[in-house]
Amino acid sequence: MLYIGIDLGTSAVKLLLMDGEGTIQNVVSGAYPLEFPRPGWSQQDPEDWKRAVLEGIPRLLQGFDPAQVAGIGAGGQMHGLVVLDGEDRVIRPAILWNDGRTAGQVDYLNETVGREKLSRYTANIAFAGFTAPKLLWMRENEPELFARIRKIMLPKDYINYILTGVHCTDYSDASGTLLLDVARKRWSREMLDLCGVTEEQMPRLLESWEPAGCLKPEIAGLLGLPETVKVCAGAGDNAAAAVGTGTVGEGGCNISLGTSGTVFISSGRFGVDPRNALHAFAHADGNYHLMGCMLSAASCNKWLMEDILRTGDYAGEQAGIDPGRLGRNHVYFLPYLMGERSPINDTNARGAFLGLTMDTSRADMLQAVLEGVAFAIRDSLEVARSLGIDIRRSKLCGGGARSGLWRTILANVLNIRLDIPASEQGPGMGGAMLAMVGCGAYPTVGAACEKLVRTAGTVEPDPALAALYEERYRTFRKFYPALKDVFAGMNG
Ligand code: XUL
Repeated sequence: MLYIGIDLGTSAVKLLLMDGEGTIQNVVSGAYPLEFPRPGWSQQDPEDWKRAVLEGIPRLLQGFDPAQVAGIGAGGQMHGLVVLDGEDRVIRPAILWNDGRTAGQVDYLNETVGREKLSRYTANIAFAGFTAPKLLWMRENEPELFARIRKIMLPKDYINYILTGVHCTDYSDASGTLLLDVARKRWSREMLDLCGVTEEQMPRLLESWEPAGCLKPEIAGLLGLPETVKVCAGAGDNAAAAVGTGTVGEGGCNISLGTSGTVFISSGRFGVDPRNALHAFAHADGNYHLMGCMLSAASCNKWLMEDILRTGDYAGEQAGIDPGRLGRNHVYFLPYLMGERSPINDTNARGAFLGLTMDTSRADMLQAVLEGVAFAIRDSLEVARSLGIDIRRSKLCGGGARSGLWRTILANVLNIRLDIPASEQGPGMGGAMLAMVGCGAYPTVGAACEKLVRTAGTVEPDPALAALYEERYRTFRKFYPALKDVFAGMNG
């Protein structure tokens, strides 16, 4: 049988076709625009996602027998607010995970309602990208549109709705709404009341592998697929990526160097970071995880390469970095191009180059960007370490993980071993694996991981280089506290 995995990302959707042995038979992608209508705002038209998925699936299936397709599963960008009216039409562009417009609502939730209550209701506190503050923002700023809301969905749930006609979500993605009581796996009545919405407006909750439904007849016809194809509930992209890299059960770690950068720690039981710097979310294997998320990871590199240096030759630019300069760069970069989530939770934070001199080269600045992202990932890892979680090795996935140089920098900045999965298609692979479980090919997500996930190699840290980076990380840690008030002043 064949399974389709959907990775509904921020810049594009990637679709993959996997066979029953876990071998990826085909991959296609379709890009869509991302709007930044004001500094710090980030939104997208759900119709663009729909178009990209519906156009992509027939391309994905070219040369394959569609009758063999048994299931579809998606991993989607998390937290995005998708609102539908009574006719299931999209009311406004989706407000995305890296949107910072809700600073006022986040302050209200964390300071007036209070962190302690939020953590009790949901296991988390408010961050600007989360869904609940966006509902409050809509209620205050777009009351007529807010009054029209009949269904509140997350990005991949909208795609599942288009495919099946069913309004549902899964626990991993629902965790990032700040509307889910994560420990009890049910919508939080208190949070719904605070946001002025009702449970009828929320999608039905499912485990990630559970089938949401089968393809609607007209969609099956359009895609050339059998109506019996099952669409499972899917997962948030980080939980799906963790499944795709085999990070399930107790004590696994997966680092993703995608548009965002995440440190994902799987756990067999529910647990909360007492300071809420890490998110406490449900996992797609039925268990839980802790996660730190930085907002701009590989996107910092993309920004430097494409917007500033105006080149698409990533490998060529990185070849200009002298390996002897690793751990010795005099330039630093703060990667807060969209503000920052974990662990500083500051929408005012901004990117910065520090330590520039007359002899600073283009290669030094590129190196600083790759290192700055690695240092910011380490910030989340340090929070986990402060909770007594001993992380000595991790899986690494995401587009940034394709760069050998970046892997070396990361392994040495974190001073841990990085296992590189044979497939870097984290969320899409995880989505297809969830579909396999939903179709009964495996009894559990853990069993599917055991059988299907392979590691291609491991990057070992070098003690001498790790020591150099340790020193530089100490310097990096001083910059944000020194600049915090300056950033706040700059943003009024
Ligand atoms: C996780 C997060 C990001 C998005 C990126 O909390 O906001 O990783 O899911 O797609």
